[in-house]
Order: sequence, then C-alpha cells, then structure tokens
Amino acid sequence: PGLATKFRDQFYVGTAVSARSLNTPSGAFAATVAHQFNALTAENAMKPALLQPQMGEWRWQDADAIVRFAEQHQMLMHGHTLVWHSQTPDWFFQNKQGEPADKATLYRRQEEYINAVVGRYKGRVHSWDVVNEAEDEGKGWRKSHWYNICGPEFMERAFRLAHAADPKAHLCYNDYNMHLPQKREFLVKLFKDYIKRGVPIHGVGLQGHVGLDYPSLDELEKTIVAMADLGLKVHITELDVDVLPAPWQLASADISTKFEYDKSLNPYVDGLPDAVNQQLSARYVELFKLFIKHQQHIGRVTFWGVGDGDSWKNNFPVPGRTNYPLLFDRNLKPKPAYNALVALK
Ligand code: XIL
Repeated sequence: PGLATKFRDQFYVGTAVSARSLNTPSGAFAATVAHQFNALTAENAMKPALLQPQMGEWRWQDADAIVRFAEQHQMLMHGHTLVWHSQTPDWFFQNKQGEPADKATLYRRQEEYINAVVGRYKGRVHSWDVVNEAEDEGKGWRKSHWYNICGPEFMERAFRLAHAADPKAHLCYNDYNMHLPQKREFLVKLFKDYIKRGVPIHGVGLQGHVGLDYPSLDELEKTIVAMADLGLKVHITELDVDVLPAPWQLASADISTKFEYDKSLNPYVDGLPDAVNQQLSARYVELFKLFIKHQQHIGRVTFWGVGDGDSWKNNFPVPGRTNYPLLFDRNLKPKPAYNALVALK
C-alpha cells in the first residue's frame, strides 16, 4: 500500500528530494516518491545558498519544480530552511568591503529574504523550518554569523517575519541531537518564553540523523514529550540510520586522513551483511513504535532521501563511504526495514 497509506491515521510520511532526481528519465524515482510518501521537503533547493547565490540573483527553478510536484501529487510541502548558519552565501553576512555586515544590514536582508521566499510560496508551502540548528550541542546559542551580528533576537525575529509573510503557515524550529538533555532544557526554556510572549512558533523538527545504537529511545522520548507538553507539534524531519562506525568517536586529529587508511571505517563496500540489515530493520521498528506511541503529538515523519545511493550519509562526515541509511536500496528496491515497517502492529 505504501508508507503514506500505512501510517495515514498516525502522521504524514515524507521524504527529501532534489528536482533533478524527480526528473530522472525512467520516472522510477518520481513514481516511488508519489506512491510511498505524502509529504515532501527539498533536500537543498530551498536553502539560501541555492535560492539566492548572489545578491539579487534568485534561482527559483528547482524549488518551484519540487513544489509543483507536491501539488500534482497532493503532498504536504514543507519548506527547509529560512535561517541557517550553513548553506547561506557569504555575501549575506558581509558588507561591500567584505567585512562583517552590521546588524541593521543583516536584519534588512533577513526581512527581504523571508518576505520573498515565504511570500512566493504563500498558501503552497504548508510549513517552514524557520530556523535551523541555532543551538550548539547543549552549549547554548551557536556562535554563528547570525548570533554574532544580531544576538539571540535573530531567531524570534525570523518567526515573526515568517508569520507576517504567511499567517497560515505552520512554523517550526529544526535541529539535530535534540535528545541531548542540555539541548532539550535550553530549548524548552526558550520556547516557553516565546509562547508566553506570543512569538509565533508552532512546531519543532527533530532531525532524525541517528545511528543503530544512538540516541537512546529514552532520551528521544523525553524530548518528544517535553516539546509536546509545551503545546508544540513534533516532527521527525530528517530520518536516516547511519550503519557505519562514526569517525568522530575516534580520537583522531584528522578524521579524513585517518579515514583513508582505515578500512574499518567503511566496512560494507561490497554490500550490507544480513545481520546488519536485520539490525537496521529492528532499529527502524523501535523508532516507529515510539512515534506511534506519541502519534497524537507527531505531525510528520520525513526520511532524508529515498534510496541509499542518493543519501548524503555516503559523504558525511567524510566522502567515499558506502552507507545504507534508508528504506530503499540503490535500485530503489524496498529493504527489509521497509517490509518490517509496513508489517507493523
Ligand atoms: C544536507 C544535504 O542532505 C546534502 O545534500 C548537502 O550537501 C548538505 O546538507 N541537517 C540539515 C540538512 O538540516 O539540510 C542537511 O542536508 C543535513 C543536516
């Protein structure tokens, strides 16, 4: 029946795509997306660096194509992402001399950018990641250009601007490692204050970049519950399960150099052993059981890609890894994890 149909009564099930992959000549990719999912995110096409690489030079083509695809297939379109420290062009944060822009300039650009993007897709993009990854691993505000130039108000200002540009849009904060207790506490405190003061935040996206054994379901559940208790809708936004040993766990000064010489960090070049494939299935099953348990609070579960071959996890944190994080293999054939999920309950 497809994933979207399977979980129709629980939550939307989405994926992230590029315009190019939707256009592959065989049409197999587009057919899989349309059949399996009822929510769509642009993996890169709606990021500032892609939408406005040079000042005043807008490139809407790919984002437009993805939004059109969502409309043609009655999918919920999610916008990712308006304000981020990464994949935002350097010019955005600089003055004409190449020095750091002043606060007034950055705020003017923020306003113009949000008005242009949210305005263009008003009524067509259902929800936005207004701010992405503003908290730094439990250490508080990330010392990004946004923070360094504007202070913490850059965030609530972004929410107010997005709300003004499309009052009906569902506005989210999105971040990774949301299970970390200090991160959770920092954000709960912040959102409590936002809600008290009427800052328009409606949802929170938990990027699901997880591994076979991290994070613990316990810590993940605590974050789901803590956010839901604030009255925020919870979304799992970038789900994939890394099956490879994580290089950052090694005590190495230069993981990329070490990686080249250490085959143990890329052990599945010739295919994923059955035992690991079973582990992957079990991991997806336990995650979905948790999502189902909290279905009244969860709006959408979005995978970060369709087939393993297109996953960013083949190139993160170092290029050249053969990874298997998704539900479909390199030929878009459903994997055991897929079968386990559609057989759930
Ligand atoms: C990633 C994309 O998947 C890659 O194609 C791109 O090269 C880098 O960005 N957190 C996010 C996503 O919010 O936007 C990132 O996507 C993955 C981490």
